[in-house]
Amino acid sequence: MLEGVDALDAYVSRFLAHLGVLVVLPPLVLVVVLPRDWISGLVLLVTAPVIPLFMILLGLGAEKLNRRQWLRLLRLSGRLLDGLQRLTTLRLLNAGDREAERLAEAAEDYRKSTMAVLRVAFLSTLALEFFATVGIALVAVLIGFRLLDGALGFEAAFFVLLLAPEFYAPLRQLGLDYHARMEALAAAERILDLHAEPPGPAGEERPVLGADITIECESVSFAWEPDRPALRDFSLRLVPGEIVALVGPSGAGKSTLLSLLLGLLRPQSGRVLANGHDLATLDPAHWLGHVAVVPQRPHMFEGSVLDNIRLADPDAGLDRVRAAAGLAAADGFIAALPRGYDTALGEHGETLSGGQVQRLALARAFLKEKAGVLLLDEGTAGLDRGTEASVADAIRRLAAGRATLIVTHRLATVRLADRVVFLEEGRIVEQGPRAALEADDGRFARLLSDAGLAP
Ligand SMILES: Nc1ncnc2c1ncn2[C@@H]1O[C@H](COP(=O)(O)OP(=O)(O)OP(=O)(O)O)[C@@H](O)[C@H]1O
Ligand SMILES: [Mg+2]
Repeated sequence: MLEGVDALDAYVSRFLAHLGVLVVLPPLVLVVVLPRDWISGLVLLVTAPVIPLFMILLGLGAEKLNRRQWLRLLRLSGRLLDGLQRLTTLRLLNAGDREAERLAEAAEDYRKSTMAVLRVAFLSTLALEFFATVGIALVAVLIGFRLLDGALGFEAAFFVLLLAPEFYAPLRQLGLDYHARMEALAAAERILDLHAEPPGPAGEERPVLGADITIECESVSFAWEPDRPALRDFSLRLVPGEIVALVGPSGAGKSTLLSLLLGLLRPQSGRVLANGHDLATLDPAHWLGHVAVVPQRPHMFEGSVLDNIRLADPDAGLDRVRAAAGLAAADGFIAALPRGYDTALGEHGETLSGGQVQRLALARAFLKEKAGVLLLDEGTAGLDRGTEASVADAIRRLAAGRATLIVTHRLATVRLADRVVFLEEGRIVEQGPRAALEADDGRFARLLSDAGLAP
């Protein structure tokens, strides 16, 4: 992005500025030259348009090159960032050299496409310089002949000859800056993508939700890749006060469903409704304001424990943060940190254990007291049994009056649920009241007994 902004800088401060000069200077020269020597004026007038014409022709071909170069740069930076962030993993797998090779390949790709772009840029500059020089030469030769004939006075000839290079100068400059323009256009496309309006009806009055929320999935289908649906024809109703547990093997589509409920993904067919309003018509910020969520891989940011919990509600005072942390069984370990709630967590919360991060994420959810929807993706993973029991208690309290969906592999947490939905390969294969399913001899009961958790 930074490279892109730099490219825009050259475009705005050079190309656009010179475009301004181009509009003023050559016409001015023409106005002065024409009355003194109309033949030279005519030569200028005829040769001038050749240069922009040529530039436009070049631009058509170079545009594709520039776009490709940007993609390569993005790929290279992505690769580098990925490698740096996963440096420990790469070391552990002894894959440092292989990764370095792949990085080198990406860099080589980028070098080649840079050279291709530069080749076009230099060639076009050369050609433009050539046309400009030919123009000046033409004026000079014609003036020379007429000087010999005595058809033109020396004063006028000298004057026109001095002005001719000035006439072409802005055109040549524009040619030099032209690749700055092409680079900038390729960069601007990416930058504007970032600004793209989120999908949804703009300008229209958006629905406003009340405190109680009922979510309905109406035959929702979603595929990350064509022909490999992660969710097929999925229907589910979440009502306030009911806890639904979503269980199923890894890769069944549980986290995908949560992303759909959060409105981060849009169903490819079917609808997700909140109180009867399609999520697509809601303002995303308004919707997320109603949802307390503990994601599967919670993220902590550089900053203090307090800041990190308070992300869920920036206005919360320390007492409310403490209460939320208490409910999430996090206050104990926070108190034991060197500076308590002011302890800095470091990048990615690297100073905490996995279970501690989970509990801070849970505290965030508890801080969102007003949210009518609670979504937990293995919110109790990484906890020991004692802690899990107290957290489960807290979740039960938090879920009161809310539409709650708990995704879990840990079947102890399933005990909280009123209803269980068993998902496999994106389809519901079993669902019903938990007690009934436990008693049944179906998939869920087998899962429980496999885990040694049979009632
Ligand atoms: N960002 C993504 N891009 C492409 N495919 C994805 C992406 N996320 C998930 N998938 C695919 O979608 C399917 C469902 O994944 P999902 O994460 O929803 O499973 P899950 O039920 O949450 O599994 P787990 O219990 O292991 O968390 C999987 O086949 C997975 O490969
Ligand atoms: Mg998941």
